[in-house]
Amino acid sequence: MSQALHAVILAAGLGKRMRSSRVKVLHEIAGRPMIEYVVRAAEESGAERVVVVIGHQADEVRAVLGERVTYAYQEEPLGTGHAVLQAEEAVAGATDVLVLYGDTPLIEADLLRRLIAGHRESGAAATLLTAELADPTGYGRIVRDERGAVARIVEQADAGPEELAIREVNTGIACFRRADLFAALRAIRPDNAQGEYYLVDAVRVLREMGRPVHSIKTDEEAAVFGVNDRVALARAEALLRDRIRQRWMRAGVTLIDPGSTWIDEDVEIGPDTVIYPHTFIEAGSRIGAGCCLGPGAHIVASRLGDRVRVWYSVVEESEIGDDVRIGPYSHLRPGCRVEAGVRIGNFAELKGAVIRSGTKVNHHSYLGDVEIGSGVNIGAGTVTVNYDGIRKHKTVIEDDAFIGCNVNLIAPVRVGRSAYVAAGSTINQDVPADALAIARERQVNKEGWVARWRQRVRGE
Ligand code: UD1
Ligand code: CA
Repeated sequence: MSQALHAVILAAGLGKRMRSSRVKVLHEIAGRPMIEYVVRAAEESGAERVVVVIGHQADEVRAVLGERVTYAYQEEPLGTGHAVLQAEEAVAGATDVLVLYGDTPLIEADLLRRLIAGHRESGAAATLLTAELADPTGYGRIVRDERGAVARIVEQADAGPEELAIREVNTGIACFRRADLFAALRAIRPDNAQGEYYLVDAVRVLREMGRPVHSIKTDEEAAVFGVNDRVALARAEALLRDRIRQRWMRAGVTLIDPGSTWIDEDVEIGPDTVIYPHTFIEAGSRIGAGCCLGPGAHIVASRLGDRVRVWYSVVEESEIGDDVRIGPYSHLRPGCRVEAGVRIGNFAELKGAVIRSGTKVNHHSYLGDVEIGSGVNIGAGTVTVNYDGIRKHKTVIEDDAFIGCNVNLIAPVRVGRSAYVAAGSTINQDVPADALAIARERQVNKEGWVARWRQRVRGE
């Protein structure tokens, strides 16, 4: 007999406790909406189909998850049990149904696979994932009978003092035999403090139906952490960031000060890269091996080669080759492509700049919409005048050219191969290869002028 597994993720609730105009499951941790983490864990757990129950801001959730999942609609958030019922048709082909909550983003596929395997081995109608927490506040408590079997789950709002003292909680994650799940859900009633159809009541109903309910207890507190308000959101962020940092340290990356190092999910970092304090690496970034980032590096969706050094600088949506040095205090805005061995020094701003290997931009420059060849020297204070108030224009500087200090390059303009541009020039015509361009007032020295002037003024 085939044992099809489908997953149902609940994401239709309002998330009132977030006090937000945005649905809870789209709040981000480590740079990505919570719901994405849950979907990924469900996919990796082996579920053939992932059904997300949406309702509140359904379109926004769909826009984030797209076609990768199947959707079921819950028109009104009448409770978690009611939400699962809305997925009945979508999971009709399943033998077992894995239920997950969209607000439990730290769940990992390994733990889910353990739950599913345990469920299948025992042949139970339902297998709950439970956890023993130091502080169980807010979670449903697991009430066991005299033989230690799960009798029912009591929500915080419905619990008496004895039940509130129970530290074993319902994580909300459970695996059900499909037929038993929906039979039980049809029998639950909203007769509780919140007037909702509680999924957890299915446990009591299954027991009454004589169907066995099992449980698997985890000690991975972080993995089952549920986010209900912004305090918990910050805690989830901290837990996840910690997990990400540990993953990279185990993969051979040195974090000098893990606490001040922020690494998003969807980042890759090569071995022997060393990261100094106050460094941020945002989603979509790929960092090579042997790099040295920070202090104070901020990398956004960029690709860095091997042995790149970035300190006190920002690099956004750019591609950086091997052995490049950036900083201190430089800003690479989106669209830069910097080849191997380039040096971008103090206080440089680059945008849409293609810079070929071995070129130096050592000090105080603005280079926008430029294509710069290899072996070029850009003097301090070089500015591309790329904007005429309406349009942007391009500057091309060919290989081995030398741009003196304080040069304005009024685009569109081209400086030919090996040409020199004299310091202080304002260039508005192309410079031929090997030429020297000087575009500044000639200097005049007036001999003896100071003495004559003093005499006139002071009457000396
Ligand atoms: C739920 C459990 C509780 C458990 C805790 C674990 C119930 C009744 N309680 O409580 O036992 O300890 O999670 O984190 O299940 N949702 C819908 N439709 C609804 C209501 C909720 O889709 O009508 C979704 C929410 O979007 C959310 C999830 O279900 O993603 C859980 O709902 P929430 O209100 O946060 O339940 P808890 O009070 O945390
Ligand atoms: Ca919750």
